[in-house]
Amino acid sequence: LREHEEFTKVKNIATIELGKYEIETWYFSPFPPEYNDCVKLFFCEFCLNFMKRKEQLQRHMRKCDLKHPPGDEIYRSGTLSMFEVDGKKNKVYAQNLCYLAKLFLDHKTLYYDVDLFLFYVLCECDDRGCHMVGYFSKVIQHIIYRYVWFPLFGLLIKRNFYWVQEKHSEEAYNLACILTLPPYQRKGYGKFLIAFSYELSKKEGKVGTPERPLSDLGLLSYRGYWTRVLLDILKKHKGNISIKELSDMTAIKAEDILSTLQSLELIQYRKGQHVICADPKVLDRHLKAAGRGGLDVDVSKLIWTPYK
Ligand code: ACO
Ligand code: ZN
Repeated sequence: LREHEEFTKVKNIATIELGKYEIETWYFSPFPPEYNDCVKLFFCEFCLNFMKRKEQLQRHMRKCDLKHPPGDEIYRSGTLSMFEVDGKKNKVYAQNLCYLAKLFLDHKTLYYDVDLFLFYVLCECDDRGCHMVGYFSKVIQHIIYRYVWFPLFGLLIKRNFYWVQEKHSEEAYNLACILTLPPYQRKGYGKFLIAFSYELSKKEGKVGTPERPLSDLGLLSYRGYWTRVLLDILKKHKGNISIKELSDMTAIKAEDILSTLQSLELIQYRKGQHVICADPKVLDRHLKAAGRGGLDVDVSKLIWTPYK
């Protein structure tokens, strides 16, 4: 069995073509068996259908009429747009996106039940269309409740994972998977996507946290985001502030705030309580080290109401 597992995990697709980019892949992705003999795949950058040969893609591009991801455009600022894609309504697109994403995600196996997810796809737009830069996915909350209320379907057994979440429904996971496509990495898009996920949580009136485990790059990006957001507030704020208050302001879960501030050595433990000690000099030093702020989410350009 182990041999079989190892065999199936061997990286299959070595490169993909997507829009104007040829991209080397990082990990195995479970494409359907008819693609077993392929080392390169050709993706339509708009509907994400994938093909074995360049000519097939060219033929496809002549008749594919999509110029952006399916679903609702919920954010536009300058050339950046964000689309919300419901996995249930756009099953094929969502599955294609998951096949594609798995090529760069090592540890996630959540690509089966696309029905359960919303996908937030970030695009750079020009006169040829909206080109995908990256995305994050998020579990649809009301589906969790359904499984919890109707356990007779036996779905709970498979998804006991989501039970845990229901119990802390005010502290839900606000992100399942996040990806910036390699040609777009290290330009601030990852932090933009993370910031976006917290803006959605704020609109829901909830505190959020990403699903674990985080990859190394995922953790670096989250740490960077949390650090900058918290330092900015501490810098501006006069007087004491509690972790709970920080959490209410940012929608970042208290544990994530605590671990971030601890790693910055801004926490002291006094009389059985964690106290934030924000010495202005220490804050300045950390802010300098925190590096670029990245792309900001302009909340006034976000037109969205929580999923009903
Ligand atoms: N080396 C060192 N630090 C890095 C690197 C790198 N290659 N990439 C990102 N970072 C750190 C830096 O601190 C960076 O901030 P800085 O540029 O200000 O120093 C910070 O992460 C974020 O950089 P961004 O440009 O905002 O992020 P990016 O667009 O590159 O996306 C992401 C980050 C999404 C994690 C990307 O690396 C990626 O898609 N990786 C593959 C998939 C993955 O691992 N996803 C996370 C899995 S965990 C989960 O899904 C819950
Ligand atoms: Zn297409």
